[in-house]
Amino acid sequence: MNLKEKIIKERIPAHVAIIMDGNGRWARKRGFARTLGHEKGVDAVRETVEAAVELGIGYLTLYAFSTENWNRPKYEIDALMRLLVRSVNKERKTFMDNNIRLMAIGDLRNLPPKSYTELMKAIDDTAVNTGMRLVLALSYSSRWEIVEAARILAGNISKGTLKPEEITQEMFSNLLTTASIPDPELLIRTSGEYRVSNFLLWQIAYCELYFTPTLWPDFSKEEFYRALIDYQSRERRFGMTSEQIRKPKNR
Ligand code: FPP
Repeated sequence: MNLKEKIIKERIPAHVAIIMDGNGRWARKRGFARTLGHEKGVDAVRETVEAAVELGIGYLTLYAFSTENWNRPKYEIDALMRLLVRSVNKERKTFMDNNIRLMAIGDLRNLPPKSYTELMKAIDDTAVNTGMRLVLALSYSSRWEIVEAARILAGNISKGTLKPEEITQEMFSNLLTTASIPDPELLIRTSGEYRVSNFLLWQIAYCELYFTPTLWPDFSKEEFYRALIDYQSRERRFGMTSEQIRKPKNR
């Protein structure tokens, strides 16, 4: 039985999020510039998106650029932004052919104008698609969006349109950039780092975490299948006992 056949179709996570890490190390190990690692990383993105569509995953969120990544050398930031625009434009037909809807989360106003415009164009063009949502986290950080949400709530309180005791978890969730997106059920991080690095902190409250030593450019469909098989072997209890999960009527 190959790996893909081991995946239980009825238990595919609705939303998988990925921290694509290790592009720089992949390149350095081979004596190349870090930016070549990012270019190879795009091939891994393509493989992963293809696998996700084949498996019927509803949402795939990729951490493509964090708020902290703005501190990288300018040439690397420029190369990443160019790569983003090039990839989004190049894959436009793939998105349409596969019914993929592109979305983006993050402080997008910080993107260079050309990147922003091209990204918005691809988002608009694919808005008619009803299949998998491919969510790019760009200039994204979880603490940023949490503070933004807190500011909006505080503003409403000071205007007198909201009372502190009226704030609910749902209200808070609806103010995050992921308002229309279900919480991820599986978070994958590559490159052997065991961190969540300011990514979807609120949204991963009950998410299963999967870490692999594979560097992102080497991430393959097989590796993705392995993560899903591992996820499906886990018991998700959401704070309840095993017995409650197995006999839902007796909860
Ligand atoms: C982390 O590796 C990777 C990034 C900061 C960028 C990820 C971007 C891509 C894969 C390409 C563009 C994406 C799309 C969606 C078209 P790193 O540079 O932190 O690696 P290191 O930890 O080894 O230095």
